[in-house]
Amino acid sequence: MDQKTLSAYDRDAPAFAKAWEAQPVPSDVRALVRRFFTAGPTADIGCSGGRDTAWLNQNGFPAIGCDPSDGLLRKTRRLHPGIQFRKASLPELEGLADNSFVNVLCETIIMHLAPTVIVPSVRRLARRRGGRTKQQPTDRQSRTGLCVQPRRPSAT
Ligand SMILES: C[S@@+](CC[C@H](N)C(=O)[O-])C[C@H]1O[C@@H](n2cnc3c(N)ncnc32)[C@H](O)[C@@H]1O
Repeated sequence: MDQKTLSAYDRDAPAFAKAWEAQPVPSDVRALVRRFFTAGPTADIGCSGGRDTAWLNQNGFPAIGCDPSDGLLRKTRRLHPGIQFRKASLPELEGLADNSFVNVLCETIIMHLAPTVIVPSVRRLARRRGGRTKQQPTDRQSRTGLCVQPRRPSAT
């Protein structure tokens, strides 16, 4: 994310977090998560106010939330005290170990980046089970969202 955008998120973090928490429930994304994710460690990249991170934790996907904005992270930790939130940004995803997650959710954040840098970075995190990684776009029109799950060798 460019410095100008990051500064805007930092400066108005409470308002941004509140606005995103008040968005209509993304039932389409949640349906895709239920369909493609498997139980296990999950990363919610670009977690913002943490609403999806909390939902993942409540629905069988033990999740941490990551975001590059210190301001948002401060607010988000107060909103969801029982959940782990870390500072990390695509594509570096600093501090997150290789092969450490079963699922990676990047919802409404990939518009900030060139597509070519996103997939290798997310793949680095996703635990391999001998197969390829599957990317599931969550928004067919704007391609702003991406669910990722390691694919089993037998799957097509
Ligand atoms: C529009 S909000 C989406 C929040 C949440 N995922 C949702 O769907 O409600 C975008 C979030 O992505 C974060 N973000 C922007 N660029 C990022 C990057 N390169 N890596 C990780 N997060 C990023 C922003 O700080 C912001 O919290």
